[in-house]
Amino acid sequence: MLYVVDHPLIKHKLTIMRRIDTGPKEFRELLREITLLVAYEATRHIEVHEIEVETPLEKTKGYYINDKDIVIVPILRAGLGMVDSILELLPNASVGHIGIYRDPETLRAIDYYFKIPRLNDKSEIFVLDPMLATGVSAIDAVSKVKQVGAKRITFISLISSPEGVEALEEVHPDVDIYTASLDRQLSDHGYILPGLGDAGDRLFRTK
Ligand code: URA
Repeated sequence: MLYVVDHPLIKHKLTIMRRIDTGPKEFRELLREITLLVAYEATRHIEVHEIEVETPLEKTKGYYINDKDIVIVPILRAGLGMVDSILELLPNASVGHIGIYRDPETLRAIDYYFKIPRLNDKSEIFVLDPMLATGVSAIDAVSKVKQVGAKRITFISLISSPEGVEALEEVHPDVDIYTASLDRQLSDHGYILPGLGDAGDRLFRTK
């Protein structure tokens, strides 16, 4: 299921991120901020446990999240820009890494790195990529984490294309997608329109 997290703060911040003249420092900060806002919704389903808490006045019921069960998996490179904000929310989460790039000719996914912490039945996986474009990398990343035992998987992006959402939902209908914006379409070169350009290049100033 696709969830577009619709909020004035997200709309405002995403508009600044899209701008051609927004530099890497501001781009990184906005990516972190928007990720945090989207993650707030994307984590709504995670398990909470009851716990007794003693206030200065009396004992009462409280809640805690076992964030050691949370595994965040950024797709390299651009997913790296989303890690810190999720770790701010869930500081004991583990971080796995998946390196995938798109072959510019075939647009197929090429894997070059895979390192995921040990998973168990309670593991709650969040795969991160700011751009859900063709869906090729997302499908590949989700397939890879399923191969090592992941059962509960959520995909978080900032901008998604209708084509990418459709492709990911077709192959992995059990994976919920949380995004800040569903944009118009993919270009012939696999870029999202209107999008924000190449998120990795803008984050790391590689162009
Ligand atoms: N990856 C990006 O960084 N931008 C796009 O528009 C598509 C894929």
